[in-house]
Amino acid sequence: MDLNERIPNNVNLSEDKRLQRALEKWLPNFLSWWHDMGPDGFQEKDVWLRTAIDVGSEGWAHFDYVKMPEYRWGIFLEPAQADAKVGFGDNYGRPAYQEVPGEFRNALRRIIVTQGDTEPASVEQQRQLGHTCPSLYDMRNLFQVNVEEGRHLWAMVYLLHGYFGRDGRDEADALLERRSGNPDKPRILEAFNQPCDDWLNFFAFTMFTDRDGKYQLSALAESGFEPLARTCRFMLTEEAHHMFVGDTGLSRVVKRTAQLMKQNESEDVRALGGIPLDIIQKYINFWFSYSLDLFGGEISSNSADFFAAGLKGRFKEQEQYTDHIAADGTFTMMVVENGKLVPREVPLRNALNEVLRSEYVKDCEKGLARWNKALADEGLSERLHLPNIRFHRHVGEYAGHYFDIEGRLISKAEFEGKKADWLPTVEDREYVRSLMKPVTEVGKIANWIAPPTSGIKGKPFEFEYVRL
Ligand SMILES: [Fe+2]
Ligand SMILES: [Fe+2]
Repeated sequence: MDLNERIPNNVNLSEDKRLQRALEKWLPNFLSWWHDMGPDGFQEKDVWLRTAIDVGSEGWAHFDYVKMPEYRWGIFLEPAQADAKVGFGDNYGRPAYQEVPGEFRNALRRIIVTQGDTEPASVEQQRQLGHTCPSLYDMRNLFQVNVEEGRHLWAMVYLLHGYFGRDGRDEADALLERRSGNPDKPRILEAFNQPCDDWLNFFAFTMFTDRDGKYQLSALAESGFEPLARTCRFMLTEEAHHMFVGDTGLSRVVKRTAQLMKQNESEDVRALGGIPLDIIQKYINFWFSYSLDLFGGEISSNSADFFAAGLKGRFKEQEQYTDHIAADGTFTMMVVENGKLVPREVPLRNALNEVLRSEYVKDCEKGLARWNKALADEGLSERLHLPNIRFHRHVGEYAGHYFDIEGRLISKAEFEGKKADWLPTVEDREYVRSLMKPVTEVGKIANWIAPPTSGIKGKPFEFEYVRL
């Protein structure tokens, strides 16, 4: 791995002068985007960050104080496998694609651009959160997520520059031009245009939306286009920390809420400066439903085409399945027909978005079980839950219809009448924001969240994770 290059990499960049020059031209644009749209206000501070220095399973990460603009963003791919094969679809068993097959060029570029767009988007969504961090530990985790999303952008830009010529370079430029939430040039996917302006949003986002990232990357890690598969495999190792931040962050909020509920006869945690469980539940409903949309339509010819072409597989395609052709299976799902929910059988390949989404839902349920254990451990009988997958959807079969939290088809008027019980209201958001006072003293923590059970990489919670 060449760490001393301007662009650290393990792809022998110095041997490909044309690509190196192109990426070195993109680098200052990236840095100026980072400066304008990256974490606001802390660019000159030393942050105790991990940096990728090796792609091996042992010791790939190096921890030290770094100023974020000096982070070693780079291009790291898992090592190539000798005679890799296309693992599924119509070209199953043929040699993996080392270059972009002409007939799949547009599809592949679209997959890479869509993934790439989410990376800078989330940094933009989170850019003000440093100002309201509940502890230095949390602030450090936020910045770690941010710099790694920046590296994920590099990963996708490398593929665009390296394999798509002129239009790849144009797409790489456009990734720095769109802006989260900007009505004139929004990010591609809607979850990445939603504001993420308080820490409950941040934890729900990293729990649910970064977890979508895990499933998309896992499906692409199976890709027959080997450079994409190799880069996604390494991205997944970074993604795990983002989900850890969300999962444990929410768990700590739930734990603190439970403690405050026990301190107060009427279980009114507002009086004690905590976040009520019903607000936590509404944030779960909001981010879970938006994240489900990221998987695309339930019935999708794109999903069938991507699978047939060997571009995007299923979650753990090699481990979990024996039939990698999936040409004649079917999948039954509920759809709305003439104002009723009815089952419909669709060809399996057209249902692969739904198959991936189902894996994701199972994974989310494990998170809910952990948070409910935090409630049980504090002796409370209240429980949190995931809303039905049809609730509050904007993409696919359920978009344009209204469902209650259990997934029953209801009228628009019924939905509007109950909306404030299910989704965060302006007042809920204002209340949560009112709690977001920064706590930046070493070892101290905000009142609305419990401290973590341990620190990062062997350091205690009482460690100066950011030198302010
Ligand atoms: Fe990412
Ligand atoms: Fe992430």
